[in-house]
Amino acid sequence: MAEGGALKVLGIAGSLRAGSYNRALLRAAQELAPAGMEITTFDLAPIPLYNGDVEAKGDPEPVAALKAAIRQADALLIVTPEYNFGVPGVLKNAIDWASRPPRGSALQGKPAAIMGATPGMGGTGRAQMQLRQAFVFTQTHPLLAPEVLVARAAEKFDASGKLTDEPTRKFVGQLLAALMQWAPRFGPAAS
Ligand SMILES: Cc1cc2nc3c(=O)[nH]c(=O)nc-3n(C[C@H](O)[C@H](O)[C@H](O)COP(=O)(O)O)c2cc1C
Repeated sequence: MAEGGALKVLGIAGSLRAGSYNRALLRAAQELAPAGMEITTFDLAPIPLYNGDVEAKGDPEPVAALKAAIRQADALLIVTPEYNFGVPGVLKNAIDWASRPPRGSALQGKPAAIMGATPGMGGTGRAQMQLRQAFVFTQTHPLLAPEVLVARAAEKFDASGKLTDEPTRKFVGQLLAALMQWAPRFGPAAS
């Protein structure tokens, strides 16, 4: 974080759907960001499937942009759906690209907050745990608490995708407040 400047948070949602609850949850976080925090977003749609042969010839432009955006951020806000009790391929694929090369990757040493939404009862708890496991290898520092698991999402967003459920808005605010405290422990982003 620049001295006296805002905490720069890069928000990444692991769904490409226009009507995605997780993209909507990320928009809510932007709206609820506390004073002193700026949340920008990175759209994963242009990221190709990871291929070591492609990587050996140089990162494709969207991958280079993703890595640069992560490096320039003081912290990450990952908003994950849950697919088959795990992290959706779209998000895992982006993490795989960003984790390369493992020594000195954009993810190494980066603080991160995690949240997620599902229409069902689980609220992405299993996907979030899987993400935390991947972050052991990448040496990314996930915020430990609070956990924000948005279950029964259809009842919590209106037709325009606005998060209307007050307790959930409060949880998101608490997560962001905790990230404000957590992120500075790990030093500033690359300038
Ligand atoms: C392939 C697939 C697998 C899914 N598996 C799960 C699951 O394990 N747990 C769950 O709660 N929801 C699961 N769902 C439902 C998703 O939570 C739901 O589609 C959600 O809306 C996806 O997030 P999004 O709204 O941000 O796109 C699955 C959906 C798909 C397409």
